[in-house]
Amino acid sequence: MANRRQIKLGMFLRPAGHHIAAWRHPDAQADAGWDFSRFTGLAQIAERGLFDMLFLADTSAVPSDDMENIRHLAYVAWIEPFTTMAALASVTRHIGLVCTSSTSFETPFGIARKFASLDLVSGGRAGWNLITSANPLEWRNFGAEPQGSSGVRYARAREFAGVVQGLWDSWDDDAFIVDKPSGIFFDPAKLHVLDHKGEHFQVRGPLNVRRSPQGQPVLVQAGASEDGRSLAAETADVIFAANTTLDIGREFYADVKARVARCGRNPDHVLIMPGFQVMLGESEQQARDRFEFLQNLIPDSLGVRHLSTYIGVELSGYPVDGPLPDLPLTNVNVSRTKMLFELARRENLTIRQLYQRIAGGRGHFQTFGTPKQVADTMEEWVTTGAADGFNYMAPLFPTQLEEFVATVIPELQRRGLYRTRYEADTLRGNLGLPRRESRHVRPRQAARA
Ligand SMILES: Cc1cc2nc3c(=O)[nH]c(=O)nc-3n(C[C@H](O)[C@H](O)[C@H](O)COP(=O)(O)O)c2cc1C
Repeated sequence: MANRRQIKLGMFLRPAGHHIAAWRHPDAQADAGWDFSRFTGLAQIAERGLFDMLFLADTSAVPSDDMENIRHLAYVAWIEPFTTMAALASVTRHIGLVCTSSTSFETPFGIARKFASLDLVSGGRAGWNLITSANPLEWRNFGAEPQGSSGVRYARAREFAGVVQGLWDSWDDDAFIVDKPSGIFFDPAKLHVLDHKGEHFQVRGPLNVRRSPQGQPVLVQAGASEDGRSLAAETADVIFAANTTLDIGREFYADVKARVARCGRNPDHVLIMPGFQVMLGESEQQARDRFEFLQNLIPDSLGVRHLSTYIGVELSGYPVDGPLPDLPLTNVNVSRTKMLFELARRENLTIRQLYQRIAGGRGHFQTFGTPKQVADTMEEWVTTGAADGFNYMAPLFPTQLEEFVATVIPELQRRGLYRTRYEADTLRGNLGLPRRESRHVRPRQAARA
């Protein structure tokens, strides 16, 4: 098992970079959203940097109907994450492959089947980021309007996760005998029919994919609301978070680890990895200047549109250099919106300043500096109870990732905080998490005893 003190790292992929205007930068690969060779290139740099996993987020819609203003946006069209991960499995060897699929639109059987298959295709490197979706633009692509409150979405998500995990245990690890002389392919006693009948789903099973190399693919979650934290504590292996400060990070970490313990789970088996946007430079000033260069590439109309969509309230009628008005909290991005409102109030930010705050990292922690400064920050987060690792976000790909791998990774290794080689063949192994044993194995062993 990996050393627990080692920092875990996800590489949060976004074609040209996480900054909203990254595609306009002279060094950017502006066509990265649909050129698979760009994804391959980034994955291979991350693997050279011994990252635990790649991560792709997902939204099932063009992000706004306001075409006039989003014509400045690159993230209107890019290849679908699951397909991308399946293809990346064959051009990488060690790195984990994690992507998002929404419990609001998909079916439990479909998700169980796809991610179990990705685990087989990749030799045990698959992970599913479970989310709920409240964005009406996405819902309309599935013939519906958003389903009620956050509580309703999470109730469905909880049942969804239970069904998926139940289906993943359909076959015992040794169910397939594959014995040519006798002609017996599998042992029916080692096959389990789920026969789930719940409030939201009726799923008979069994899954028509064998148990995966990791036992079950890694389950990732990013809910930050009360319901989101509870579901993550009950089921997730890895928890992503958007924590803007070290103090908020510590509060989240302590709260979620305590919830995990209250669920009867081992807190060391649930890793908390906040989003972490890094802009590197040879000096802190150079890093900040590099970021400012990107900020100056955002047209105002796009910045205001991005912020409006993010918080679910139209801001285009307000002066961009005026204060953020008092606004109601909507059902969209609940916890992140609350955090942005608090930030704007605390720092007295204008609408422009607030859209600039989310333009790079969408509310994730941002740091700017030299490799040593960045390593200091990472060390502080993991040694003072704010994180087990990070979901690394480059404002600009590929240059910032290359620099991170060439400078920050060796600095962390020198400090004994980061691996010098992959320890295992599976994502669970590299994350230091135990294989998930089947729920059906223990009773049978007990019966034998
Ligand atoms: C690292 C990270 C990745 C996320 N990826 C997605 C995503 O791919 N698609 C999506 O709709 N939401 C994504 N989210 C948003 C979360 O699913 C969730 O809506 C958000 O954290 C707010 O939590 P809440 O719904 O419990 O308030 C992500 C959040 C984080 C922190």
